[in-house]
Amino acid sequence: QRRGYHEKVLDHYNNPRNVGSMKKTDEDVGTGLVGAPACGDVMKLQIRVDKDSNKIRDVVFKTFGCGSAIASSSYLTELVRGMTLEEAGKIKNTDVAKELCLPPVKLHCSMLAEDAIKSAISDYYLKNPNSRTTDLSGTGGAIPDVKVEIEQTPAAAAAV
Ligand code: FES
Repeated sequence: QRRGYHEKVLDHYNNPRNVGSMKKTDEDVGTGLVGAPACGDVMKLQIRVDKDSNKIRDVVFKTFGCGSAIASSSYLTELVRGMTLEEAGKIKNTDVAKELCLPPVKLHCSMLAEDAIKSAISDYYLKNPNSRTTDLSGTGGAIPDVKVEIEQTPAAAAAV
């Protein structure tokens, strides 16, 4: 078995995409700060969300950790840019691990990336409690141009 990192990991490690920091207090910014207890590595991921579309319009990270953790976060920033929060919240660490060909022993590094995006999304929703409901009820003023998933939200439909 080959030792060392896969070339995709090395590529992200050597040329990490979207390294940076956003102002945590900006109301359209969600910050996720997570750590891996097993190794002590830490990942900070921040998203800037477009209020009207609920889409991630910018995303940056800073990771203090192993090559796989850095690559996972770098790849994640490419993946989630332009996604709605709902789509981004569904990303699994296995999506990241598969793309980067991470070996089993490095799976927890990709888990950090999943935790980080989920935590950033939660932070954004915490700061913008109303944004979660716009898709369902359409009470935000703007008419959502989306497929409102009525079939999945009988409670919301009944409430209207
Ligand atoms: Fe801990 Fe990679 S070894 S995140």
